[in-house]
Amino acid sequence: MAGASRWADEEGDRAEKDRRKKEKEEKKRAKLAKQQAEEEAKARAEQRVQRSDERPSKKRKLSPDGEEDAQPQFGERKLLRFEAPGWGPCRHTSNFETLNHIEEGSYGWVSRAKAISTGEVVALKKIKMDYNQDGFPITALREISILQQARHANIVDLREIVMGNGLDDVVMVMEFIEHDLKTLEEDMFDPFKPSEVKTLLRQLGSAVGFLHENHIMHRDLKTSNILLNNRGQLKLADFGMARHVPPPHAPLTQLVVTLWYRAPELLLGAEDYGPEIDMWSIGCIFGELLSKEPILQGKDEVDELSKIFALCGLPNDKTWPGFYRLPNAKALKIPRDTKSGSVIRSKFTFLTNAGAELLTSLLSLNPAGRPTAKQMLQHPYFTENPRPMPPEMFPSFPSKAGQEKRRKHSPNAPRRGDAPKIGGGELDFSSIFAGREEEQKGAGFQLRIG
Ligand SMILES: Nc1ncnc2c1ncn2[C@@H]1O[C@H](COP(=O)(O)OP(=O)(O)OP(=O)(O)O)[C@@H](O)[C@H]1O
Ligand SMILES: [Mg+2]
Repeated sequence: MAGASRWADEEGDRAEKDRRKKEKEEKKRAKLAKQQAEEEAKARAEQRVQRSDERPSKKRKLSPDGEEDAQPQFGERKLLRFEAPGWGPCRHTSNFETLNHIEEGSYGWVSRAKAISTGEVVALKKIKMDYNQDGFPITALREISILQQARHANIVDLREIVMGNGLDDVVMVMEFIEHDLKTLEEDMFDPFKPSEVKTLLRQLGSAVGFLHENHIMHRDLKTSNILLNNRGQLKLADFGMARHVPPPHAPLTQLVVTLWYRAPELLLGAEDYGPEIDMWSIGCIFGELLSKEPILQGKDEVDELSKIFALCGLPNDKTWPGFYRLPNAKALKIPRDTKSGSVIRSKFTFLTNAGAELLTSLLSLNPAGRPTAKQMLQHPYFTENPRPMPPEMFPSFPSKAGQEKRRKHSPNAPRRGDAPKIGGGELDFSSIFAGREEEQKGAGFQLRIG
């Protein structure tokens, strides 16, 4: 009996087991069917939302292929996603192969290099950290931020910033331009033709006009900072001294602009100056392009002022109201009844009247007498014959930048921190009237130590 009952129990158990299994499978099927029904309902709801949406449905592809159409989870909110530019690490300098060094300037080492991935030739400017006392040099910060904003056909294109292994290894990657005007001028046999000068001056005026419209002063315009490619396109470079025009009367450093291109108001200690200082430099560059050499090669600040007065005439209260109130003007003894005037017309005999008039106005001692860049571009000089040469007709020259270091025979940009401390009993004229023990005679005037 025990055996029968055992078999009977086993059969009963098996039947019970089967029943439970069936029940379980049915439950599973029901659950699956419910899930399916829910998903279908959700998909239908989604479609209704999309149809009733008034905005055009622009589905951005944010996921890899195949994932794009995956059904969102039930109850999940639909989010609009926008691609943000985001911050990313700088690329490494090893992405570029140096071809040759071009120039060591005051603020950086410039070299010609090749982008390894594309083969494109670029110019690299490695930022000098030498004068840096408070972290990253302010000149480099200004240069980078202003070049990033100043996108213009006549301003050198900053492509990116790359970094080497150290934090002090920061390099600007720029488009490579074959020449700078200083090197070209030193290598050329004859000066630029009048039509070429006009093309260069017009492009320079266009770049500077763009900067001034955007309230930026370059503050170091000179021929070595003006690049020219083999298609006759001029590109303004070296924004290490550039800055935004501050609100009126905000004091600015006077020690800006390389000596031979420095405006008289800066030499006389004006702290409150404006974009007119760039127009003075353009006047110096205009004269230099015509004569193939810098026109005001002062040995120091006093000599520079002396050469300026010898060329442009002496200032007086009428031609330059407020001149005597400039800090360093007190140190000048200028005869008030002088007849000494400008000799620009007689120095540039080959210039037309319009050309001489433009040059004279750019080199006006009184900053208010200088044209703006926009006014300069509208000057009759540019429309009279000979007309500006189309840039594409410009002659091409062999590039020094593709060979050995470019030569440089002009003073460097002023170094930060060299500016004299004015006021507080520390009025020191030694950097303005450097090394002058005695009165120095200039163009019929005298300079004295203050
Ligand atoms: N993008 C470029 N392509 C080719 N050459 C360039 C480029 N940028 C600069 N150079 C060359 O390198 C020289 C020095 O560059 P830059 O003026 O920017 O440096 P810097 O250190 O500020 O110089 P400095 O203080 O002497 O004016 C230029 O005069 C020019 O010859
Ligand atoms: Mg320079």
